[in-house]
Amino acid sequence: MSRAELIARIAGKDALICLLTDTVDAEVMDASPSLSIVANIAVGYDNVDLDAARKRGIIVTNTPDVLTEATAEFTWALILGVARRVVEGDRAVRSGGWKGWALDYLLGTELRGKQLGIVGAGRIGSAVAAKAPAFGMHAVFAHHPSVSALGLKTMSFDELLVTSDVISLHAPLTTATRHLIDKRALARMKRSALLVNTARGAIVDEAALAWALQEHLIAGAALDVYEREPAVHQDLLKLDTVLLAPHIGSATRETRTAMAELAVRNVLAVLSGGEPLTPVAGAAA
Ligand code: GLV
Repeated sequence: MSRAELIARIAGKDALICLLTDTVDAEVMDASPSLSIVANIAVGYDNVDLDAARKRGIIVTNTPDVLTEATAEFTWALILGVARRVVEGDRAVRSGGWKGWALDYLLGTELRGKQLGIVGAGRIGSAVAAKAPAFGMHAVFAHHPSVSALGLKTMSFDELLVTSDVISLHAPLTTATRHLIDKRALARMKRSALLVNTARGAIVDEAALAWALQEHLIAGAALDVYEREPAVHQDLLKLDTVLLAPHIGSATRETRTAMAELAVRNVLAVLSGGEPLTPVAGAAA
C-alpha cells in the first residue's frame, strides 16, 4: 500500500496492522482519530514513531520471539555462505565459469576456532550465539549496560571489532546505532574478518562498507538489510566479496504465519478491551 493509500484507507479504523515498509508517523496516526493500536508485523519498529503514538495513547506492538529461530538460522546461512563463498560458486557454475576441480579454487575461510563477535545481545543475538559451538566458534558480545547482568562473555565494542573473525549485527536501529559500522569501525576490523547484518541496514554505512571491501580492509560481508531498501549501494552490487540477500531473515512459512497471527492477536486483545500480548516498551500500553 502506498503512503497516500494508507492515509486514505486508515480513516475511521480502530487498528492498523502494518509492515516494516510502512512509515507510521503522526500524519498517519492523525488520519484516524479512533486508532487505538498499531500492530507491526516485525520485531523491529523503527518505522513507527513511538513518541507520536504515546502522545495519542495509541498502543504499539511488535512480533518478538516467533521469529527468533528463523532469523538466527538465516544468520548462520549468511555466515556460512560468505565464509565458504557459496553464492559466488553458484554464479560460477551457472555462468560456465567453473572449469573443474582445482586445489586452490574458491578458497574460503574455516569457522572452527574463530571468534564470533555479536553486537546486540537480545533474543536473536543470543540465539545466534547459542549455535556457535556447533561450528566450533566462541561467541562474544559487545558490552552494553543491558548485557552486563546476563553472564555473557562481553568486551568493549572496539575490542570486539579488533579481535573478532566474524561480526554479526543484532541491535535495533536507533540514533545510537545508526552508522555504528562506519569507516572508523571497519578500519579497526581484521583484514580477514567477515561482517554480517540481519538487523537493520542503516546500522552499516553502506558507502563505507563498499570502500572497506574495495580496499580489502575486511575480507567479506553478507547483508540481508539495506539503508534504502530495496535499493542497494551501487558499489556493493559490483563486489563479489559481499553476499546480498533480499531482507528474508524471518522468511519461513512457519515464522511469517506466526508473525501475522501474533499481530492479529494483539489487535483482537486490544479491541476487546484487554492488554496487548507484545507491547513495545515505551509505547502507551
Ligand atoms: C524484520 O526485519 C523484523 O524486524 O521483523
